[in-house]
Amino acid sequence: MQGLSHVPPAGSDGQSGATLMKVTVFGASGYGGQVLMRLLLDHPEVDKVIPVSSTSSGKPVDERDAGLGPDIHGKLPPGRLFLDRNEAIKDKPDAVFSALPHGASADFCEPFFGQSVIFDLSADFRLRNEEAHDKAYGSAAPFPSIRSAAVYGLSEVYADEIRKSDLIAVPGCYPTCCLLPLIPIAGAGLIRSVVTVNTLSGISGAGRSAKESSLFVERSENSVAYNPGQRHRHHPEMTQELKAAGSNAPLYFTPHLVPMRRGMASTISIPIEGDLGEIAEIVKSALVTAYAGQPFINLCGDSIPATRDVVGSNRCDIGWTVEGPTDGKSMLYLFSTIDNLLKGASGQAVQDFNIRYGFPQETGLPLRGEV
Ligand SMILES: NC(=O)c1ccc[n+]([C@@H]2O[C@H](COP(=O)([O-])OP(=O)(O)OC[C@H]3O[C@@H](n4cnc5c(N)ncnc54)[C@H](OP(=O)(O)O)[C@@H]3O)[C@@H](O)[C@H]2O)c1
Repeated sequence: MQGLSHVPPAGSDGQSGATLMKVTVFGASGYGGQVLMRLLLDHPEVDKVIPVSSTSSGKPVDERDAGLGPDIHGKLPPGRLFLDRNEAIKDKPDAVFSALPHGASADFCEPFFGQSVIFDLSADFRLRNEEAHDKAYGSAAPFPSIRSAAVYGLSEVYADEIRKSDLIAVPGCYPTCCLLPLIPIAGAGLIRSVVTVNTLSGISGAGRSAKESSLFVERSENSVAYNPGQRHRHHPEMTQELKAAGSNAPLYFTPHLVPMRRGMASTISIPIEGDLGEIAEIVKSALVTAYAGQPFINLCGDSIPATRDVVGSNRCDIGWTVEGPTDGKSMLYLFSTIDNLLKGASGQAVQDFNIRYGFPQETGLPLRGEV
């Protein structure tokens, strides 16, 4: 791969063909890291999980996550301790999962470039255009010499590229929720003028760090839009991928915070012209063809998906309908739901890991939401 030396074969014994893997999790004390820990401790192809924390190294993982439960497979370091990054470097993990904020993530991963396969949950390598990154994140795009080696890890769209990559930029939660319904529709040529996206997000999307805007009193019984349009950092990520799918239409995106812990729901409106029945068939055919055999895409037809059906699962549920007068301008509505911490972050990272190493995509991932 360009700019990075190739990572040696996977397997704890360093031999090609061995499947049991050693992995490390950066930011293991945060929300994304906690979900990664749960998934990887139960993953049948992983035999060692090294939790790394800058602020809690040397302390038991249970101090930050009492809900982790017993390590029934014996995969944690002795004493169930968080380690620091240097200890993880010595351990030579096959794969690194980085659930750190952007900026910190790329720097933390640097010693592992060319040594381990990196699954970066942050935005550090998602945008191919460096200027777009600088503008959205207010700082220079990290490691320009290896950016082109990064693959955008939207599992259902880039599986072929993920299989060959050693640096996977796991998409953001909003882009995952919006792009999965949109990409096949863009590919079918149905987006001709504009796309309007409204997305509701649970509060865990803001991470675990203490801030006034995440306080219970601020967020409970309260819903609000924020950073509309290009002000939201995920806007360029969505337009990058829509363009790759064949649409240059302007995207009007408004995210909202709603009082729930986890979950994300998007409503997408696309003006259409023509026979509604024919368009409905094109929409159905585009989605069914794009996602045939994909275990985590659940096409709901004209049923509108709800967050409670996907929270706790790695699924994206997608519904659609066409509405309006038959002889004039009408609207295609797409609806999608995900769990922001699973399909929107850690679950998709593990799905990419499964794809990268040739394990069945479903390995170690929940297909069904909580009741
Ligand atoms: N939450 C979501 O729904 C979601 C969805 C998609 C993507 N993401 C992305 O995933 C990443 C993690 O998100 P999160 O929600 O898990 O965040 P979080 O709960 O705030 O956790 C981030 C962790 O990173 C570590 N950290 C923070 N600042 C650091 C720094 N300057 N240097 C080194 N380590 C630092 C901290 O752990 P230690 O002190 O223990 O090291 C912290 O617990 C972010 O890049 C986020 O954008 C999140």
